Amino acid sequence: MSMPTPLINVMNNAARKASRLLMRDFGEVEQLQVSRKGPGDFVSEADKRTEEILHEELHKARPGFGFLMEEGGTIEGENANERWIIDPIDGTTNFLHGIPHFAISIAVERDKELIAGMVYEPVRDEVFWAERNEGAYLNRQRLRVSGRSDMRDALLATGIPFGNRPGKKAFSAMLNVVMNRTAGVRRQGSAALDLAYVAAGRYEGFWETALSPWDVAGGIVIVREAGGLVSQIDGRDNMLYGESILAANQQLYDPLRKMLMEAVRNEGLKLTD
Ligand code: IPD
Ligand code: CA
Ligand code: CA
Repeated sequence: MSMPTPLINVMNNAARKASRLLMRDFGEVEQLQVSRKGPGDFVSEADKRTEEILHEELHKARPGFGFLMEEGGTIEGENANERWIIDPIDGTTNFLHGIPHFAISIAVERDKELIAGMVYEPVRDEVFWAERNEGAYLNRQRLRVSGRSDMRDALLATGIPFGNRPGKKAFSAMLNVVMNRTAGVRRQGSAALDLAYVAAGRYEGFWETALSPWDVAGGIVIVREAGGLVSQIDGRDNMLYGESILAANQQLYDPLRKMLMEAVRNEGLKLTD
């Protein structure tokens, strides 16, 4: 059991304060489901309000830090080398449909490196957190990626491209191979939680394309500190700002990466097709 560091305490306090309103809003969404207008506008307001609370709390605690936020964009700080990366609700579509699987994601980037991450899931009150070289935790319990090494036993998470997002053909090619060789694939609708679950050993791996930095920043630190490996699917390490992400336990990272790349190449595709 470890004591959270001061930086983690700051993130935890902000996430918990923001989540009180978020949970009230979630209760409201469940009511709005049945109304003719639907909860759409209300949810985008909830997104903004949550982000405002996070911004206010984090700014109070570390006035020099800048921000990169899904709703509010970039705010330069006095310290040019330190910023928060925030997704106020990861899993908005779930939230909108009254499905209790969404999270607040917060990360700290210092000198272009991720040094701390938190993914807070308010419905189950699960806070996943990690600071570089300090290990990864779920609440106060140390996390470790799963030890499974046989692909046939592996449970994987992914995200399915939708609307006008790129990568649909590549996704179909990858899924076609993965579903034949693993124990199953889940699409739960929150990339931040998918990564946290890899860190917790609930999934052996996770892949997705066309995500944004705020979807993955918090989770990346947590996976790494839990002993997992993270990169782009093609192996490049700029997954925070790149076009794809793959996270897995140590034994399955390489075979999974090769499997996904081969699936795409064998169809003559690129990851963005
Ligand atoms: C989304 C979730 C989802 C992923 C989407 C993201 P949002 O974030 O992480 O799992 O598949 O592509 O945009 O919109 O709920 O913050
Ligand atoms: Ca997101
Ligand atoms: Ca979001």
